[in-house]
Amino acid sequence: MKRKIIQSERKDQSAGRLQQSDRKPKDLNVHARSQWQWTWTKMGLLSLCILSVLIPLLLHLFSDSIDLSRPSDIGLNHTINMYLTPGEGVRVGVWHTVPEHRWKEAQGKDLDWYEKALGDGSPIFIYLHGNGGNSVLVIQVLSAVGYHVLVLDYRGFGDSTGEPTEAGLTSDAVYLYHWVKARSGNSPVCVWGHSIGSGVTTNTAVKLLEQGKQFDGIILEGAFVTGRRARDQPIEHPFTWFYWKFPYIQFFLFNPLKNNIFVFPTNENLQKLRTPLMILHAEDDHIVPFASAQEIYRIAEKAQNSDKRVKLVPFDRSLGYLHNGLYKDPGLPDIIREFVQSLMT
Ligand SMILES: *[C@@H]1O[C@H](CO)[C@@H](O)[C@H](O)[C@H]1NC(C)=O
Repeated sequence: MKRKIIQSERKDQSAGRLQQSDRKPKDLNVHARSQWQWTWTKMGLLSLCILSVLIPLLLHLFSDSIDLSRPSDIGLNHTINMYLTPGEGVRVGVWHTVPEHRWKEAQGKDLDWYEKALGDGSPIFIYLHGNGGNSVLVIQVLSAVGYHVLVLDYRGFGDSTGEPTEAGLTSDAVYLYHWVKARSGNSPVCVWGHSIGSGVTTNTAVKLLEQGKQFDGIILEGAFVTGRRARDQPIEHPFTWFYWKFPYIQFFLFNPLKNNIFVFPTNENLQKLRTPLMILHAEDDHIVPFASAQEIYRIAEKAQNSDKRVKLVPFDRSLGYLHNGLYKDPGLPDIIREFVQSLMT
């Protein structure tokens, strides 16, 4: 379009030049200006192209700049990095943070020490993360309360190998559960699932149920009711693999919303579970609406026929926690402590 306009301007100019020589300087001026405009447009387009490549690249580099094998780099000095192999050719990275009061003792310790520490009687949390980058902060809260925390980077995430599929993520978490149980003695083993990790959590709990096992407690934070796309609300759903892994690149290559790539049927899962459940949700959650927490509560409370075993803890809109900020709540440690104590009595 731009190019056409310029060509017709040129035609006018040459016609003008033949007829009226006194208009010449002005025409040249117009010509020069439109050329400049064109140059600026080209430069603008070029910089857009460069930015669209550069931003995802920078994000990628930035996220890779955390060396996952060295948690002490980001202030977790009582944490060890290890790898488990939940499947053939699949190696997943796991962080184990011991309770904060043991941080001095933990300095310079090896895997053996950490494995033994897991049986020290402190409650244990398996933390199944979502897309947000707040796991470190939640680890710190749980560790400060006095718990062990195991954070799993599912296959295909972080420095874990393998293909991320719903079944794959679930079996990674099941595997970690058994690994923990083999070392945890009589300590309660709970799970905390955030965002999409809440889907992995309920899937895992159902898988364990089929094996006659269960978590001692489940905490769901910013959880969604189901990952199954409702036909009448096609855009509603923010959780797609490709948004999750590559928020920019994949979106432009194809529209993942068209594919039912994952299901995460938390609503159906909760109907089968009888594990004490605490639902944490910010009223101003901008990714998973608060109504989702209410729906989850309703389903679980009905299934368990108990308002004691199922709790919903809302965080007021005015606190501004959104989808990733619950760890900031000064009351959170007590809320967690109370929940875990209720499991042990
Ligand atoms: C190690 O971590 C603990 C717990 O977060 C903190 O209190 C302590 O100051 C840290 N120590 C060092 C030397 O970084």
